[in-house]
Amino acid sequence: MRAERLAYIDAVKFLAQRANIKMPDNSFDDSAQKLRIRIYEANREAARFFFSQLTAPTGKAALAYLRGRKLSDKTIRSFGLGFAPNSWTALTDHLRSKGFDAAELIQSNLCVTNKRGNLIDRFRNRVMFPILDVRGNVIAFGGRIMTDEKPKYLNTSDTPAFKKSENLFALNIAKKSKSDKLILCEGYMDVIALHQAGFDFAVATLGTALTYEQAAVLKHYTNTVVLCYDSDQAGQNATVRAIDILRKENLDIKILKVPNGKDPDEFLRSHGENGHIKFKNLLEAAGNDILYRLDRLRQEYDINTDDGKIKFMTEAARMLAFLDNDIERDLYAGRLCGEMSIDRKSFNNQIDKFIRSRNKKEDREEFRKIQNQLAGVNSGGERVKSTNVRAVKAEEALIGYLFRNPEMSESIRRQLPPERMTTDFNRRLYTSFTDRAMSGKGVSFTDFSGEFSSEENSRIAAIMANHANDISSNSGSEYISVILSESEKLSAEDLANESPEAIQEYLNKIKNKKSKK
Ligand code: GTP
Ligand code: MN
Repeated sequence: MRAERLAYIDAVKFLAQRANIKMPDNSFDDSAQKLRIRIYEANREAARFFFSQLTAPTGKAALAYLRGRKLSDKTIRSFGLGFAPNSWTALTDHLRSKGFDAAELIQSNLCVTNKRGNLIDRFRNRVMFPILDVRGNVIAFGGRIMTDEKPKYLNTSDTPAFKKSENLFALNIAKKSKSDKLILCEGYMDVIALHQAGFDFAVATLGTALTYEQAAVLKHYTNTVVLCYDSDQAGQNATVRAIDILRKENLDIKILKVPNGKDPDEFLRSHGENGHIKFKNLLEAAGNDILYRLDRLRQEYDINTDDGKIKFMTEAARMLAFLDNDIERDLYAGRLCGEMSIDRKSFNNQIDKFIRSRNKKEDREEFRKIQNQLAGVNSGGERVKSTNVRAVKAEEALIGYLFRNPEMSESIRRQLPPERMTTDFNRRLYTSFTDRAMSGKGVSFTDFSGEFSSEENSRIAAIMANHANDISSNSGSEYISVILSESEKLSAEDLANESPEAIQEYLNKIKNKKSKK
């Protein structure tokens, strides 16, 4: 897991694949899995084919193109770049000779059918960029035309083995970098040029805007993302959207500005030998997202007029009101007031006003959430009347933890008596499981499933499945403390009978608790 930075199940898959062992498969239908493997194989074969074309006479212009863009042979090799020849069936014929059938070629999106129903190559006369997942499978390709024709890039569409919204270009390399950051760029060429210049922690989205799934993947590998998008208007708009998405994952965000409207690849090339040091300077100068937003805001107003200055500072106060960190807010407020020669006290008052109206809004949202709970709907849409959703979730996580660590049963039981569990089902499962474990009886699913109905058994299986992959950073006692603190709160049923004033008081109490932490 550590060497390849994979989650548990992915690490097992990785090793199984490397040792050529079939993963034990408990799903009923493994045809989807088989197809996926065939697509990986077809893609790998295609990548080999494209690479070999670069050194063949047909690929002469393509190789010259890549060298013209200042890529070294080492870079071309390590990214496995290649060339799809200007032919209708070169790849199709090659893959057929390797035993791939028409369905596999179409499902992998390497081939398409023409009007006459014959298979033809999808990528023709393009420089090819293979896209690998973190396990090293070739999952897709980007293909660039070597002229100004459109479309500039052709990318593999989503296939059973590839979702562009969940993958990032070069993450298979960047995940092994010594750097604790990741640089996020827009283009394949930017990433490759950065790696060549020694920044082996650059990745890119796959021809689309950043998605929440990709942000979650990034969070798995780093705490700091350096956004390095084009400095044109489109790139700047994309930066603002990306900031919002990355903030949701609690990532630290830095914005790297490449000067003179260049993209990172052009910037590096324009500095030749000095590219590395010049880009390193930009990296060190990269400010965080608040500075970036304040900067952009400032550009919207003419701060040389009183009117523009007032409007800018008002909007800046609104923005700062949304920061959760008081120290951070204070720092920027102080800096702004200094620059704009505005009285610090009146600016702080303005910020406080926005904070109060923000809190009111959040209270309303919290209130709505509680009302939903009262209606008995939890996040999964399941009805859980009269129970506390957070506690039930923690209880399930604790039970999942026990399934993985049955030897902890005794100590957990000492900390959490069964009667503190919220639902009858959880209580029974918890008691039965820990009783068995403590008396040395079998604790596998089949050992205790007899005590539960088939409906309950499927719930048990779901709890097992949902929590099988919990990276056990949470210890059992952390779940217990959630369960105990939740059980002190008013139950939803209690709340349902309360007046709005009492509910408000209750909300304030929760909030005070939060801010005390
Ligand atoms: P060069 O122009 O060769 O330097 O490539 P680039 O990577 O700098 O491309 P650009 O900044 O124009 O675009 C950024 C990324 O958007 C590319 O790497 C592609 O992933 C994607 N992209 C660009 N043009 C197209 C297109 O025509 N179609 C699709 N599907 N994606 C594109
Ligand atoms: Mn470019």
